[in-house]
Amino acid sequence: MKIAIGNDHAAVDMKNEVMDYLKSKGVEVVNVGTDTNERFDYPVAAYRAAKLVAAGEVDGGVLICGTGVGIGLAANKYKGIRCCICSDPYTARLSKQHNNANMIAFGARVIGPETAKMIVDEWMNAEFMGGRHADRVALITEIEQTQALASRGE
Ligand code: RB5
Repeated sequence: MKIAIGNDHAAVDMKNEVMDYLKSKGVEVVNVGTDTNERFDYPVAAYRAAKLVAAGEVDGGVLICGTGVGIGLAANKYKGIRCCICSDPYTARLSKQHNNANMIAFGARVIGPETAKMIVDEWMNAEFMGGRHADRVALITEIEQTQALASRGE
């Protein structure tokens, strides 16, 4: 498994902790975030990671900023990205099972490192369930690609 990880200046310590954790589990990590506390605008890290995920160069992406919101929103602007912004492991697991989330985002100023590791584990180890959920993910993609929902007469 290969995972891209991105962060801004608010999340350097947590990025390092999550990165070490992933490596300890045998996951290959591509670090596209900042390693200093100097201002680093989160859309840059979101873009770099999203590009790798959408191109299939990595199996998924983990994004961390102060709240997880900005970096997650930025990633979701990239075609093909479904980034779940969350603070709990249950949502993280369901985001893969039901929404096939290919990225996960959370906030270093919101949760602690142990919760972060649980979130990453649940998301990474869950399987997309397909079926009716695949129909809904296809509708998300339709909105993304056409800015319309013609298949539902919208
Ligand atoms: C940076 O100060 C902060 O705005 C950023 O890390 C993030 O929380 C934005 O959503």
